[in-house]
Amino acid sequence: MKILVTGGLGFIGSHTVVELQAEGFEVVIIDDCSNASENVLDGISAISGVRPLFEKLDLRIKHDVLGFFERHPDLGGVIHFAASKAVGESVEKPLLYYENNLNTLVYLLQCLGSKEQAPFIFSSSCTVYGQADKMPITEDAPVKPAESPYGNTKQIGEEILRDSCRVIPQLKVVALRYFNPIGAHPSADIGELPIGVPQNLVPFITQTAAGLREKLSVFGNDYPTPDGTCIRDYIHVVDLAKAHVVALQRILNGKQKENYEVFNIGTGKGSSVLEVIKSFERVSGRSLNYVIADRRPGDIISAYADTTRANEELGWKAISTLDDAMKSAWDWERKIRNI
Ligand SMILES: NC(=O)c1ccc[n+]([C@@H]2O[C@H](COP(=O)([O-])OP(=O)(O)OC[C@H]3O[C@@H](n4cnc5c(N)ncnc54)[C@H](O)[C@@H]3O)[C@@H](O)[C@H]2O)c1
Repeated sequence: MKILVTGGLGFIGSHTVVELQAEGFEVVIIDDCSNASENVLDGISAISGVRPLFEKLDLRIKHDVLGFFERHPDLGGVIHFAASKAVGESVEKPLLYYENNLNTLVYLLQCLGSKEQAPFIFSSSCTVYGQADKMPITEDAPVKPAESPYGNTKQIGEEILRDSCRVIPQLKVVALRYFNPIGAHPSADIGELPIGVPQNLVPFITQTAAGLREKLSVFGNDYPTPDGTCIRDYIHVVDLAKAHVVALQRILNGKQKENYEVFNIGTGKGSSVLEVIKSFERVSGRSLNYVIADRRPGDIISAYADTTRANEELGWKAISTLDDAMKSAWDWERKIRNI
């Protein structure tokens, strides 16, 4: 069966392509290369032995999306990763984010919704919960007003999908609310490739250790957490990728309880910034140059998932440890920097 993976050259998309191929799916990728390189196709083929189909196309151009669906009448489903994801940039350029993250979703649903079967997996985020009142966070925790246009696009995206499922019976959707994806494929053939200064902790750590950044700033060590630093649920990207395959199979095998379902995808374990640094130092054998800086406005103190629903309903569980993920992230950084 042929599956469209939008944003399939990106960080999470590329790892998901590999896992789909391992389960026997044929993959066609759409990516406009706005945040990825075509070389990722080489990394995917090195792992799986199969070069996925690829069309360089901007999903904001509806005419091109329609053309794509005409060229591929045999699509069995869509996994939709393509989006802009930098929170800070979204505050500066809200319309770019609303266009890229919402128009593209609408066009895809308009095309897919006219087919007899329309399985669809959506990349949502734990940002929809904001600072949740209770830890761990279940899927029933209230969705809080978004802190940024990026976060808002994920909330509105979920609403678009929920509303569409009500009126398009063949549309079957799973929205996965990711916690904090990190790491790289154990082969180090694919991984995270941030353009410019990394927005996320782990690539900042590995780039600092690789000498690209002078030091890491830890924003605040006086939060009400055991070591004073913020807590997140870091999930290995390969575990996350596998969750997409399992969610797709759930739809294809008719196992959904409702046409629109939401799952938290995390490890269920919170780790502090200092614990992540210690893990990096343990697996790399290097000490990291970091300083404690002031708190950063808008940072959430703590967020980690209750994964019971994903464990029981999807039959999926994250298996990698934080050390596994940090080692893979470091192996990847060393490979791309020739260290
Ligand atoms: N990485 C995270 O921490 C995280 C957390 C929660 C949710 N998500 C969501 O998961 C998805 C994938 O994230 P990622 O980290 O792999 O990001 P990424 O930037 O590595 O991948 C996104 C890919 O989509 C492509 N793309 C963007 N706009 C496009 C367009 N208009 N047409 C075609 N291709 C386009 C980019 O070139 C890129 O390759 C996104 O929807 C993101 O919002 C990511």
